[in-house]
Order: sequence, then structure tokens, then C-alpha cells
Amino acid sequence: MKKIILALDVHDFKKAQDLVKKTSQYIDVYKVGPILFLQSGREIIKMIKDNGKEVFLDLKFHDIPATVKRSVESARELGIFSLTVHSIGGEEMLKAGSSVENRPKIWAVTVLTSQITTPEEVLRRVKLAKSCGIDGVIASPLEISIIKKSCGTDFNVVTPGIRPLKVEDDQKRVATPEFAVKAGADFIVVGRPIIEAQNPDEIAKNIYESVEVKS
Ligand code: C5P
Repeated sequence: MKKIILALDVHDFKKAQDLVKKTSQYIDVYKVGPILFLQSGREIIKMIKDNGKEVFLDLKFHDIPATVKRSVESARELGIFSLTVHSIGGEEMLKAGSSVENRPKIWAVTVLTSQITTPEEVLRRVKLAKSCGIDGVIASPLEISIIKKSCGTDFNVVTPGIRPLKVEDDQKRVATPEFAVKAGADFIVVGRPIIEAQNPDEIAKNIYESVEVKS
């Protein structure tokens, strides 16, 4: 499976469809977050799957355990590849989510890549998530190697904060695609560098070539 997840952070279905068509050669998993899910819901999931691709539903569940459990059950019916919960919800919530049978992969957000934090704080949340039966974490490129060292290679590390070129935006803990993949990321999540490019297919291809040959 290819390593790049494209974040479809756009408001409309047509734009998302166009991005999937243009980038499908380089991408197997597309991330749907609240921006698109609130607009197009099940329709967007169907479109991605009809194109032979997988869906990562990034709604970052953070609620009481019973609600998270039922949310994971509802997500399971969508036939998606993976979803997110927020590690800050704590042990009982994480266990409630992971207890659902035949569920998608669950990845726990550690600390948002737009926030400054310490590796120790990220690792504390990683260990909690792993002990609760969660399949992996969302963490910045800067923490990948310590997470892999502590949790082993089977525990997924999914990494946003990917910037092929230096830019000033809301992401704080960032690195290049090459750095993240060399450090051991299972997936890198890329949004604006591709979706806001003049030629999204060209940028997707460049990133693909820079990481796939090295992995
Ligand atoms: O546009 P950009 O490449 O920054 O997109 C990163 C994506 O990853 C966004 O959709 C954002 O919501 C998501 N994300 C993140 N940091 C996390 C979890 C998810 O940036 N910790």
C-alpha cells in the first residue's frame, strides 16, 4: 500500500472528486474530515470507494465512552479503513472504542501538530492508547522514531505536519515527507501542499517519488 494519505479538506464534492481522479495513481487512502463530511457525508465515502480507494474518517471522536463506542459502530457500517479518536478522552473512552468488533482501524490523536508540546507528553498518550487496544497514533514527524522504538513496528504511526517546502502556517511540528518516512512513518498525511497546488497531480507525484523509492 502507498504511504501518502491525502487530506480532502475542501468544501465541495466536485472538488474532492476531481482531486481523487487527479491523484489516484499516487494515493490509496483519502482522509475525510469534518469539512467534507458535513457537506457530503455518505456520498463522499461512496465516491472514494467507487474509485477503488480506502477512506480514513478523521472526526477525532472525544466523548463519553458509550457515545464513542456507538460512533465507532456507526462508522463500521460505512466500510471505512480507519478513523480517529482523541487520546485526551482517557482510558475508559479508548477502551470503549477499541472494544467494537470487526471495526475499522482506530488511530488516536496524541497532540495536534499545530500545538507545541514535548516528546514525553506525546509518548505518555501513545502508551495509554496502546494499552487500550488502539491500533496506532497520529503524531508529528518529530516523534515517530521514539514511538516506533517504544511500541514496535506493528503499532501504526500516522504523521501530519508534512511540508515538502518551508511555509508559515498553523502547523508547528513539521518535517519533509522524506524525513517522516525515513523515521518510520507508516503513513504521511498531506493536505494543503497538494490540494492548494496549481497542479495537485504533479505535487502528489513528486512526494510519491520522494518517499516510495526510499521505503
Ligand atoms: O493541510 P495539512 O497538510 O496541514 O493537513 C493536515 C491534515 O491532518 C488536516 O486535515 C488536519 O486536520 C489533520 N491533522 C493534523 N494534526 C493532527 C491530526 C490531524 O494536522 N494531530
